[in-house]
Amino acid sequence: MIETGKSWRTDGDDITLVFVAAGRDEIDLAYLGPRLPDGEDLSALVRAGTFGLHENEPDAPRIGGLLPQAHDGYRGRPAYQIRSGKRQADCGFQLAHIQANGPNMMATWVEKSTGLQVDMSWEIVGPRTVEVTMELMVDDEGDILLDSASSLSMPLPRRFNHMTAFSGRWAREMQAKTTRIGPQAIEMRSANGKPGFDAGNWLVFHGDDGQNNDADCLGIHASSCGDHMTHVVQDQDGRTCLSIEALRQPGGIALNASDITNLGQITLILGDNQDHLTQLFHDHVRTNVLPQRTDWGPRKVHLNSWEALAFDLDEAKLKTLASAAADLGIERFVLDDGWFKGRRGDDAGLGDWQVDEAIFPDGLTPLIDHVHGLDMDFGLWVEPEMVSPDSDLYRAHPDWCLHDDRADRPTERNQLVLDLSREDAFAYIHDALTALLDNHDIAYLKWDHNRRLFPDNGLQQFAIQRLLGKLRQQYPAVEIESCSSGGGRVSFSMLQYCHRIWPSDNNDPIERLRIMESWTRFLPFEILGNHVGPSPNPITGRRTDMDFRAKVALFGHMGVETNPAAMSEDERAILRAHIALYKQWRDVLHGGAFRQLRHPESSIYGQMVLSGQRALAVVAQTAFAENFNVAPVRLPGLDADTLYSVTLPKPWPQKSSAYLADPDAWESGFVLSGRALAERGLALPLTYPETAWLIAIEEQKS
Ligand code: GLA
Repeated sequence: MIETGKSWRTDGDDITLVFVAAGRDEIDLAYLGPRLPDGEDLSALVRAGTFGLHENEPDAPRIGGLLPQAHDGYRGRPAYQIRSGKRQADCGFQLAHIQANGPNMMATWVEKSTGLQVDMSWEIVGPRTVEVTMELMVDDEGDILLDSASSLSMPLPRRFNHMTAFSGRWAREMQAKTTRIGPQAIEMRSANGKPGFDAGNWLVFHGDDGQNNDADCLGIHASSCGDHMTHVVQDQDGRTCLSIEALRQPGGIALNASDITNLGQITLILGDNQDHLTQLFHDHVRTNVLPQRTDWGPRKVHLNSWEALAFDLDEAKLKTLASAAADLGIERFVLDDGWFKGRRGDDAGLGDWQVDEAIFPDGLTPLIDHVHGLDMDFGLWVEPEMVSPDSDLYRAHPDWCLHDDRADRPTERNQLVLDLSREDAFAYIHDALTALLDNHDIAYLKWDHNRRLFPDNGLQQFAIQRLLGKLRQQYPAVEIESCSSGGGRVSFSMLQYCHRIWPSDNNDPIERLRIMESWTRFLPFEILGNHVGPSPNPITGRRTDMDFRAKVALFGHMGVETNPAAMSEDERAILRAHIALYKQWRDVLHGGAFRQLRHPESSIYGQMVLSGQRALAVVAQTAFAENFNVAPVRLPGLDADTLYSVTLPKPWPQKSSAYLADPDAWESGFVLSGRALAERGLALPLTYPETAWLIAIEEQKS
């Protein structure tokens, strides 16, 4: 039995965690913050942070801690709900072992009536980054069903009394909503067999309304690519427990003897402020998550055929599109949906991953050769996890889809999901993809996923990771983009295998600015696809200038998803010039430190990336400004005493540029210090809606 009050400390370069034995079998988190001095008296820290008893609570209050249990008066959500046979198991987890070693704390609990063992690890993996993992194991051939299991339960440090979560929907992903944490329990869940557009897997906890950038904050990500259920519950004494369950299945999960069930990883990052948190997330993603990112070449400009041609494909049209793309400076041609057998619309063909002879009488090779001849590489859209009822695959193997024998087979977007936990279905898809990649020179796969999993057997997320892992090993040079009707499946567990995500189907630049503002809080630009779409936009109907669309798309992994033939000569010239600018600046955009630029006018969005002695910013106005002359745009984060040359790279937004006081100086460059740029800022004409400026900042050579 571990003595109450005993504490353990783990340290990273810039963070300390202190755990304390709080009561029988309970471990509490006594400190999560910047690194404590080596000599800190942990016993004093714990005692000074402990409240005395009040009149209305058990004499030995249960606090839940890192493994809350439903017994002895604990009223919150238990970490585990298990059944053994027909009865609810007692959930009597006993702490068997705990140790802290350098940056790692490990603890083991064993449930006494079932023998279920829980191994928990909190490991500091970066200056301010902690990864939490939980594993379950059962020794005997018990008949154990897991109704719910938490990947993380933790008491939230009291200074974090607000939460920003990101809910959304198709084409309007990641809407940031800030809530004051109070007595009402918050539940956020996805029930799609994927994280979906629901909130709860990307969270920021902070101590204010989230508008300021001056207080510390805790970012949390649940890395599962399946479902999650997140609870934030405050008890009557003001203690808040956060729990994230990342492995869920209606009816419970059966545990087999000796299997180790990994409950998915949770990443916690502590920032001094929101900008710092973002930088730490980007560093973590670049260093620890993305597949061998240091080997990546420059992120090539894409032309994607979807919003240019949709299903209206033939070899001649695609060759014309590819030639027009090359003329703009595009470097990769991605053939989207519609190329495979029987796929003339979204109601047939998924599963039949053979090239459609009606469109490509001589196969894909003539198109690929044409693309290569234009000095571009070739990418291809696939949706391997799906099957259309109208397909040869389904006709041959109707039982290969996820289904319930007692019920109908309801579709979404006319499709069903292949059960990849079946070895035969897995082997078929693996072979189909292998044949495509072996027989064609394909540099890139856009991997889509457009139907929720209903029913869900809970195994699909593991099968898909296995498939992606296998393909990455076989074809390490092939890049993969993860798309799920836009940003419906974005998680670190997917990003372990992928080089890019598709943040949204919505290419409308006004919508996209907001969507990118949310994604960039966690993910760097080099993995966020950002495309120039058509005008009017097919989703919002909004018309916008090419100049505005191109400036917005430049901040990300740039692409074009519209037909150059439908543009005027002027528009093509503007787009070509922005593609050239992207190439000139992508080393900065894709490796530098990100800054959100805050402006008093809420309709102005600004982002800047700094790398070495260079920085590029975009400032965009979406509405009609309150004052004709909006407040100067301030650029914090540069070196205060360094002198920089500041220019506005051309092309300029036409109407607004007439209001520049000194156009020649904006072209040749003002020389200003980092301090002047941060404090006084730049007077830019940003009155009109849909106006954007690029600002180039380069250290003045003496
Ligand atoms: C999904 C994707 C789109 C496009 C279409 C093709 O909706 O999100 O980008 O690839 O499928 O059917």
